[in-house]
This record gives sequence, structure tokens and C-alpha cells, in this order.
Amino acid sequence: MKDLQHSADASTVEEAMAAQNYEQAIVDSEGATALAMQNTLLTPRFYTTDFDEMDAIDVSPVREDWDVLIGQMQADPNKGHFKKNEDWDHIDWEGMEPKLKAEFIDFLVSSCTAEFSGCVLYKEMKRRGNNEDIVTLFQLMARDEARHAGFINDALREAGIAVNLGFLTQKKKYTYFRPKFIYYATYLSEKIGYARYITIYRHLEANPEHRFHPIFKWFKEWCNDEFSHGEAFALLMKTDPKLTSGGNVWWIKFFLTAVYSTMYVRDHQRPAFHAALGVDPDWYAHEVFTKTSEISKQVFPITLDIDHPRWQRGLERLQKANADLAEAKQSGNIFKRIGASARAASAFISLYTIPAKQHDVPVSTRLEPAY
Ligand SMILES: [Fe+2]
Ligand SMILES: [Fe+2]
Repeated sequence: MKDLQHSADASTVEEAMAAQNYEQAIVDSEGATALAMQNTLLTPRFYTTDFDEMDAIDVSPVREDWDVLIGQMQADPNKGHFKKNEDWDHIDWEGMEPKLKAEFIDFLVSSCTAEFSGCVLYKEMKRRGNNEDIVTLFQLMARDEARHAGFINDALREAGIAVNLGFLTQKKKYTYFRPKFIYYATYLSEKIGYARYITIYRHLEANPEHRFHPIFKWFKEWCNDEFSHGEAFALLMKTDPKLTSGGNVWWIKFFLTAVYSTMYVRDHQRPAFHAALGVDPDWYAHEVFTKTSEISKQVFPITLDIDHPRWQRGLERLQKANADLAEAKQSGNIFKRIGASARAASAFISLYTIPAKQHDVPVSTRLEPAY
């Protein structure tokens, strides 16, 4: 186990985290780790939950689909994929335009933290569980996220940066979510992750002159992993119809609104990054929301009305309020801060109260990546 050079070749999460490229990451840069340590509404968090309740899930109602999905994940088509090869072009980090460099590093650090957050949560579930179905699934997902995080750290290392993942595991604050909130939030983050990566991948396939970094070439296989993880959470939710009906639909709407609007605000903080990709962030957001909504019909009985006139306006108001809030925090102006927070809250409420679209959920949940 000790001799494994790269997390990409690991068969288990433990092996991935003991690989040499993980150990090298411990020689870190304080700035990147500090960035990853931040806990704001907009930065990736680490989660903990009631692991016993999750361990008690009985997957028999979805057994047939479950076994197929687990079989696909065990076949492990992406083993060895997440490391540099001859397709990895040289990057002139020194020569990169400073604003683009800063935003791109921010993108990589935040992606790495998000991947690792999944890894830590899944690994913990696997460690605490006794239910063989659950333990098997979480081991497989933790393995994938460890590879993803390790690969992003490889890319960062070329820029002289690494996120100290061991330090994060020990020191970053953990947010408690009840299992059902973990399902909604994690399902959506896996599916929106798929939609984000495949949209960039397809865009760069058509416009390769905008591919300013080789990591985007890996996005297709990458997002297929996230797609499978989302499938697993869809099946977990299917085991208990209560999770996606009655009062819980309000929670689903809340998570949809929160996940979509967070993505919008965060992406608009990186104008140079999107300009380099040749992507208009408003177009990109709408594209990703459309794909995610289409996919989430597999299990959620509602989708957000993203073509409602209040939707785009609400997102823009939220984004402006957030920018003002960040500025007020910097300058220490308490009145501006209160004002901006109130505007952000009112924009969010306006988004949340747009009537949702209802539809029937199919009997069979399973999907394959289609974009
Ligand atoms: Fe991932
Ligand atoms: Fe994932």
C-alpha cells in the first residue's frame, strides 16, 4: 500500500490517501490552505451527519437498479485516469495574466476542497457503517473523490501551490446535517457537478482555442463519476417515498434554490476565468440549471421555474448584494453590511417564492449520462 505512486491508481480511498502525490501535498502553501479553510455561505463546507440512521437504510426496494450501479462502479472504468499523461500540456503559470491566474487558482482550490469534502464524508460513512450495501457504496464514492482531489492538487502543485488535505481533515469546521438534508444537498451537488463539467467539456470540444489548461480534457470521465454518485443518492432517496413528498418538497425547493443561486454568485466572482474559457457566466448558469433540472426529475417532484421573469432578476440582485456585502466586510462598515445582508435575504426569498413546476416522477429512477 505504501508504494503506490499516485492516487489515480488506487483501488480504495485509504490507498489513494496514502499515495505519494497525497503526501507531497502536505508540503503546502499557507495561502491555499487558508482559502480552503474558509467557511462562508459560498465556500465548500465539510459535513457530518447521523451515520447510524444512514447505516439503517434498506435498499431492497431498489435492489435491481442498485446492484447494476454498484457493479458499474466496481468495474472501475476510470482507474488510472486521474493523473497527468502525454495529453497534459505545459502551462506557463508565470506568464499567465495575474487576474486569470488568481481566479483560476481560486477555482482549483475551491474544487479541490469540494471534492475532498465529499471524500471525507463518504469515508466516514464507510468507516462507521455495518450495512454492507451502504459501506460498499460509500467506499466506492470516497475512492473516486480522493482521486479527484489528488488530481487537482497535482495541477495546483505546478503553480507552486498545494492544499494541505490532512490539515483540512483535522481542522476544518464540520457542519451537521440530518441525513435527509445530506441526500438533497449531496444529490444536487453531484448532479450539478456533472452538469457543470460536461457543459465546459462540450464547449471546449467545440472551441479548443479556449482550453487554457489541460485539466479540462479530463472533465468527461470526471463528470461521469459524479453522475454515478448522483445516481446512488437518487436510489437512496427512492427507498423512502416520504423523502420526496409532503412537507419535504419545501426542503427540496430550498436546496434547489440554494444550490443554484450559490453557483450563480460564485461563478460571477470569476469574470476573467470565464472570459478565458469564452463562456458567458449567465449563459453557463442557465445551461447548467437546465441540465440539472432535467436530470433531477428522476427523483424530485418539482423543478424550479428558471424561465420565470423573477428568476434572473433575483439572481442578479443576490449577486450584487453579495458583492456589496464583501466590500462592506472589507471596509468594516457595519451599516452597509446590514443593508447588504437584508438585500441578499430579500433576493433569496424572492427566488424561493417563485412557483415551482410540478411533474410526475418516473417509476424507474436510473439514468445514464446523456449530455
Ligand atoms: Fe468528485
Ligand atoms: Fe462525486
